[in-house]
Amino acid sequence: MFNKLIAATLPYMPQKFVWIFSKRYIAGESIEEAILASKELNKEGIKVTIDLLGEFIKDLHQATENKEAYLKIIDAFEENKIDGNYSVKPTFFGLLIDEEICYQNVRTIVEKAAEHNNFIRIDMEDSSCVDKEIKLFRRLKAEFPKHVGLVVQAYLRRTLTDISNMMDLQNGSSKLNYRLCKGIYVEPEKLAYKKYEEINANYLKGLEFMFQNNIFPGIATHDKNLIEPAFALIEKYKVSKEKYEFQMLYGVTPELRKMILDKGHNMRVYVPFGKDWFGYSTRRLKENPKMAMLIIKALFHRG
Ligand code: FDA
Repeated sequence: MFNKLIAATLPYMPQKFVWIFSKRYIAGESIEEAILASKELNKEGIKVTIDLLGEFIKDLHQATENKEAYLKIIDAFEENKIDGNYSVKPTFFGLLIDEEICYQNVRTIVEKAAEHNNFIRIDMEDSSCVDKEIKLFRRLKAEFPKHVGLVVQAYLRRTLTDISNMMDLQNGSSKLNYRLCKGIYVEPEKLAYKKYEEINANYLKGLEFMFQNNIFPGIATHDKNLIEPAFALIEKYKVSKEKYEFQMLYGVTPELRKMILDKGHNMRVYVPFGKDWFGYSTRRLKENPKMAMLIIKALFHRG
């Protein structure tokens, strides 16, 4: 109830106030700030994945602008020799308005990344997007086998079937590369597991499937109860460290991140930046009021 109240009122609070908690999770508004934050992480031996904030656009002019913005970002990050790749949200390029135009926009971005021998991760959005995002991934993977990957969400009941159905895309020279996360959107029980234990069990089934099938997993979680079993699976399947990585969000659980790095595993941090930080923060809160508690903690504890 308290969480819901905070989530509902935050959009009406002054941006300055919201920024107090958001700044911990967002690298800044400009490319320069994101490059600076990435350089700091690179210095600690952490790779990054860069995300320009924005999603669910309303008209296709924005899609073109967003594509141009990503092309500029790729130029700037490559010029600065940042050790990292890029994440995109297809609804930022018009997925729910015109799938073909979205495909053309994301294709241009993947082509640009491929020219730099780099990689684009397609984030997974809410359940209305999953079929479309898998379709988009299939098309791009056929043309750019080494330069594109997808996110899969452990809370969705369909995910194990999806990854099994996508095995036709796996071949020797172009391994599948998924980021495995729990999933952040609020989905109906018909589509998604709701209980913590069920989501974690499905997460570990997905991860084990990936190790068994020589898929590269980005193990994206801050949950100790997944990280420890992930270590055990790495040990069980004797997976060498260039065949997986851990991933975390910017500003979240830096101590846990360090523990994983100190054990010699690779780590990548998701670095969101851009002018849409206010919209992003408040949308996330409306979707998941439980986040309000984390925000309150962030107000009092700056890790
Ligand atoms: P859980 O939610 O159980 O959190 C475990 C612990 O981590 C918490 O108890 C808390 O201590 C800490 N924690 C987690 N989030 C925190 C926060 N924001 N602030 C402070 N502490 C926090 N989702 C999606 O649907 N599509 C996507 O494309 C992506 N992409 C993505 C990339 C990367 C690199 C990560 C790490 C995550 C995503 N996600 C995502 C989000 C993901 O689905 C999930 O919602 C969050 O990672 C939280 O889940 P955990 O696995 O961390 O567990």
